[in-house]
Amino acid sequence: MAVFHPAVELAAALGTIFLIYFGGRLVIHRTVPIADLVAYFFYLELLYQPVRALSNVWESIQQSLAGAERVPELLGQNPDVTEKPQAIALPGRAKGEIRFHNVSFWYREGEPVLEDINLEIEPGTVVALVGPSGVGKTTLAMLIPRFYDPCRGQITLDGYDLRALKLQSLRKQISIVMQDVFLFHGTVRENLLFGCPDASEKETIQAAQAAGAHGFIVELPQGYDTVIGERGFKLSAGQRERLAIARALLKDAPILILDEATSALDVETEAQIQQALERLMIGRTSLVIAHRLSTVRKADTIVVLQEGRIVDKGSHEELMAWDGLYRRLHLIQAHEATPQPSLLGGS
Ligand SMILES: Nc1ncnc2c1ncn2[C@@H]1O[C@H](COP(=O)(O)OP(=O)(O)OP(=O)(O)O)[C@@H](O)[C@H]1O
Ligand SMILES: [Mg+2]
Repeated sequence: MAVFHPAVELAAALGTIFLIYFGGRLVIHRTVPIADLVAYFFYLELLYQPVRALSNVWESIQQSLAGAERVPELLGQNPDVTEKPQAIALPGRAKGEIRFHNVSFWYREGEPVLEDINLEIEPGTVVALVGPSGVGKTTLAMLIPRFYDPCRGQITLDGYDLRALKLQSLRKQISIVMQDVFLFHGTVRENLLFGCPDASEKETIQAAQAAGAHGFIVELPQGYDTVIGERGFKLSAGQRERLAIARALLKDAPILILDEATSALDVETEAQIQQALERLMIGRTSLVIAHRLSTVRKADTIVVLQEGRIVDKGSHEELMAWDGLYRRLHLIQAHEATPQPSLLGGS
């Protein structure tokens, strides 16, 4: 296009020069009246306009062709995680007993992210995952809904190997509140009902209230019908997190994966979210990637990850009793004047 556009313009300009030179001579020699030459100029301009328009169309065609090459590439992608033909559906609501057996995982061969993870999560308990940024906390959590399969080892839910289960029946059991909450372009209500389309208006509002989101939702321009997301009304990080919590409450799955956001929130919002999270965890098996000390402290078991391995496991008191990574992380965070969430594994 860098060549094509100037070439079209140059041809047009040369045509005009040609016309002025020869047309001008004809006028000087009085073979052609000047009015005809002027008229000719206008006709020429009428010809140039569609030629320029065509050259723009040509540009669009080239761009589309370049884009179209990538579409089949994307459509042709095979998901890494596939469902076996003989996969079974979980019978009813899961108890929520999750076991990692010698699980290793890597995104790229030779660069292990998780190594030899053995972890038991008992039904109804809260397990907190802590560790420095980038050790693989999010990765470990993402193995449970089978966003990836372990490269070695096995994960079971209620005794079933995850790979033997139907994907939909597995994922129905799991609510996820992500580090960076994803909102769809749609209304607040549509975003809340995403995991549970059949919930009634009353249930939706109750969930929003329990998540501390009802208050700000009713203050939005169109309340629950306000369009949010990519091109809609922009919500703050704290508001997005509360919407995600409300969404998870509505879905009411027995297993909860919570990757706490690390964004610094004001003390009041922080307290509201903390309360909402506690309500969300009641009666669920929860794996929490915790950045807030308050969440970590209340967990039944704290798992400390370092360099892709579990280096410590125990309750807050047990882990504080000796001088390990947890105690060091905890002391650093406790001593900061302003809380630095990243020290307990922020990003
Ligand atoms: N999709 C991916 N492809 C390749 N490498 C990845 C991918 N996601 C994460 N990683 C790498 O895997 C490692 C673990 O990442 P992970 O997101 O699990 O860390 P984390 O413990 O959750 O960190 P944080 O506390 O900052 O959220 C990092 O080194 C990261 O660069
Ligand atoms: Mg993470």
